[in-house]
Amino acid sequence: MKKRCFYIAIVVLFLSACSKSNNTGGTTVTPPIVAPDTTLQNTLPFPIGASVSISLLQNNTKYSNLAKKEYNSLTAENAMKFAGLHPSQNTYTWTDADYFVNFAQANNKRIHGHTLLWHQSLPSWVTNFVGDSTAWENLMKTHIQTVVAHFKGKVASWDVVNEAFEDNGSLRNSIWRQKLGNDYVARCFQYAYQADTSVLLFYNDYGHEYSSTKRAAIINMLNTFKSRGVPVHGIGLQFHTNYTQSDANIAAAITAAAGTGLKVHISELDVALNAGNNPALTLTASLAEQQATKYKFIFKIYNAIPAAQKFGITTWNIGDADSWIPRQYNRPDWPLPFDGNYLRKPAYYGILDGIK
Ligand code: G3I
Repeated sequence: MKKRCFYIAIVVLFLSACSKSNNTGGTTVTPPIVAPDTTLQNTLPFPIGASVSISLLQNNTKYSNLAKKEYNSLTAENAMKFAGLHPSQNTYTWTDADYFVNFAQANNKRIHGHTLLWHQSLPSWVTNFVGDSTAWENLMKTHIQTVVAHFKGKVASWDVVNEAFEDNGSLRNSIWRQKLGNDYVARCFQYAYQADTSVLLFYNDYGHEYSSTKRAAIINMLNTFKSRGVPVHGIGLQFHTNYTQSDANIAAAITAAAGTGLKVHISELDVALNAGNNPALTLTASLAEQQATKYKFIFKIYNAIPAAQKFGITTWNIGDADSWIPRQYNRPDWPLPFDGNYLRKPAYYGILDGIK
C-alpha cells in the first residue's frame, strides 16, 4: 500500500511538473495532434502575417525559416518608418527595407508597408524643422510620395497614417497636426494615392478594443473620408491586447470596423500576459492556456466578417523573445504564438482552433 501511494505521488508530481513551465522557453503542455505539414499559412482562410526584424531575418535562420514557413504576409517592424528611411532631408536609406522586400518577394509573401506618417520614429531633422505651412506640407508630401513610389508594385498596402487619435477620441496634437492642421490625415491618403493608385491604403491605430470613444472617432473619420471621396481602403486594428481583455470588447471592435465596409486588418496582434508588470511572473500552463483561448476568440470573430473584408491578421513579430513588449516595459512577458525557441505555444493551436 505504501509503495502504491509512493508511485501515485510520483505520478502526480510528474504531471504537475509537466503542467508548469520555465521562464525562458515554452510551456510543456502536450500539443494537440495536427497533420505534420500544418502551418498557419496553409490552414487559415485569410492572409496571416508577422512583422519582422531585418537583423533577425539576416542573422537567425530559425527565424527566417519560420517566417517563410508559417506566414504569407509580412510587415517590417521598423525598417519602413520615417527615421529609418529618411534620416536627413535629402537622404533616403533603402538598404534594410529593400532587403526586406527582396526577402518577401523571393518567398512569395505579400508585403504590408508600415508606416508613412507617425508621430514616433521621426528623425531629428523633422522634429527640428523650421518652415511655414507650405514647407511642412511639402516635407510631408515629398516623404510620402518618394516612399510610395520607391516601393510601387512591390508593396500591396500601406499604413498611411498611424495613431492619429488619442484614447479619448480627440485628434492627437502631434507635430503633424500642429504643423499641417486638422485635415492632414485626409491629405496623406490623397498624396499616397497620387503616387500609386493600385496600392491599398489603411488607417492604423490601437485601442479599438478598450476605448469605444476612440473607436467611434476613428470610424467616424473613415466614414467621412468615404463620403468625401478620400481614397481609403482599410482599417488597421493594432490589437496590442492582453489575455484579460473581455471577449465582448474584442468582438465590438472587430464588428464595428467591419461595419465601415473597409478591409479590416488586425495589424499588430499580441496578447500580453503580464500587463501588471510583475517582474517575477513566470509562464505557467494555465496562463498559456488562457492566452490560447484569447487568440482563439480573436481569430474566430475575425473569421466571421465578410470574406472580402478579411485583409488578414498580423502578429507583432514571431517569437516571444523578439517581442517589443518585454523591452518596452522591462518585464517578463510571452505575448506571441511561438516561444523563445520558436516552438509552437498553446496560442498557436488556439489560432488553429479559432478558424475550425
Ligand atoms: O536598432 C537599434 C539598436 O541598434 C540600438 O542598440 C537600440 C538601443 O535602444 O535601439 C534599436 O532600435 C530600437 C528598435 O525598436 C529595434 O529594437 C529603437 O530604439 C526602438 O525605438 C524601436 O522600437 C520600436 C517602436 O515601434 C518605435 O519605432 C519597436 O521595435 C516596434 O515594435 C514598435 O512598433 C510599434 C508600431 O510601429 C506602431 N504601433 C505600436 C508598436 C509598438 O510600440
